[in-house]
Amino acid sequence: MRRLNRSALWAVPLAALWIAGGAIAQNTATPLEELGGLLYFDENLSEPSGQACASCHDPKTGFDDPDSNLPVSEGVIPGRFGGRNSPISAYAMYAPILHFDAEEGLWVGGQFWDGRATGEVLGDPLADQALGPFLNPVEMNNPDKDHVIVDVAISAYAGLFEQVWGANALNNVKKAYDQVALSIAAFERTQLFGQFSSKYDAYLAYCLANGGGMDDCAKGNGKAANKAMKRYFNQKERRGMALFMGENDNDGKLTAGEGAMCSACHVADWTAAADYTLPVQVPDWAPAGMVPPVFTDFTFDNLGVPQNTEYPFPAVAPPDLGLGPIVGDPDENGKFKVMPVRNSGLSAPYAHNGLFKSLKDIVHFYNTRDVPGAGPGGADWLPPEYPATVNHDELGNLGLSDADEGALVEFMRTLDDGYKSPGRVPRSR
Ligand code: HEC
Ligand code: HEC
Repeated sequence: MRRLNRSALWAVPLAALWIAGGAIAQNTATPLEELGGLLYFDENLSEPSGQACASCHDPKTGFDDPDSNLPVSEGVIPGRFGGRNSPISAYAMYAPILHFDAEEGLWVGGQFWDGRATGEVLGDPLADQALGPFLNPVEMNNPDKDHVIVDVAISAYAGLFEQVWGANALNNVKKAYDQVALSIAAFERTQLFGQFSSKYDAYLAYCLANGGGMDDCAKGNGKAANKAMKRYFNQKERRGMALFMGENDNDGKLTAGEGAMCSACHVADWTAAADYTLPVQVPDWAPAGMVPPVFTDFTFDNLGVPQNTEYPFPAVAPPDLGLGPIVGDPDENGKFKVMPVRNSGLSAPYAHNGLFKSLKDIVHFYNTRDVPGAGPGGADWLPPEYPATVNHDELGNLGLSDADEGALVEFMRTLDDGYKSPGRVPRSR
């Protein structure tokens, strides 16, 4: 965690907020969203004060913990650490309420690596999530809701709170606490958290403007995609994109036309805003009402990630069972949410326990988990933290070369926001 300079951040209105990549967001904040933003950045809402949501979710790192030297995050009390890596919370708004998709036979959605902020409490997984950190002793450490609401009541934005939620809203602590969470969720659904301003998006907008089909452009197929790729991507990025999108039979040999299987889980599909039950951002350059790929379907899987032995101290007794205990099904033990890989270039370390220090490390793991002697220091990779449910079909022995791994990393970096506004791409030739 790094201390934020609060006055520097909020000397400017939301409309000119500093965002990832140094661009300035044109943010059309409603009073509710603005209130959520003020709460999100307020370091006085911890006990003692000094830690805000933004301390561990910094706009400059894709709303991830800016301290990439630690696998986990330090709370407001020095020496207290959480049990998991802070995820990129940009694009989290696209995760639906946690539910079982009977057709696919898979759990989908919710917030946190294990989906435990389901959305069932306040109707929005983001709001359910925001109920947690204020009272968590390893995060913001308030003893009770009263403490949080008293801090809100003496804040500079107490008037805005009552304007949004009604006069005397702060007198009903229980309700006001939920309203804090709902305000934060509204802020987390603004354009700041759904920018679609990466190099990949510029490529995508150009491809569409040149007559490419939506699916072809997203996956890099066809003439218009080729032209757009040549314009925006270097050779490594193009190779990386083809690998990311391509399938792989995981037999240790990369045959012609095979890829790295990434998009099997980090899906490159468009979705329709109308199919979401909660409001989501649609970039203005996209076809009406369509959301570009966020590179996850918010399902859960067990990649066989080994236990991280470098934790400051193990806050969660191993093994970390992930989704299983949340849904009460041992078959789901060891599974974690497929995260959107947008902004992953900004958000080291990687995976729920922060085991991988770089994108290259995690790609190497996907490629060689089951290959003897391919782990750190020429040893085997350590065994999975929870072996029973590990995915042996889609990763572990992909047969990628070192250059292929590098190309995948280059492609993932094209997914970092802050390249330039894709909307400025010429609409036609
Ligand atoms: C001390 C650091 C810290 C603070 C402070 C903190 N978070 Fe987090 N946040 C984390 C960690 C670690 C996780 C992952 C925990 C897990 O999955 O069990 C997380 C998860 C999340 C997620 C889920 C993202 C996803 O894709 O599943 C969201 C959203 C989020 N935090 C928002 C907030 C908000 C809002 C606040 C303030 C009310 C906040 N955080 C305060 C560290 C922090
Ligand atoms: C079988 C589904 C699946 C496949 C295939 C897959 N991923 Fe993942 N990915 C996941 C899951 C699940 C997680 C979270 C795992 C965890 O933390 O234990 C994840 C996490 C990641 C992360 C870390 C995100 C973060 O915020 O820490 C990156 C980066 C990533 N994957 C990239 C890739 C790349 C590149 C490929 C192709 C080589 C790939 N993935 C293939 C399911 C998959």
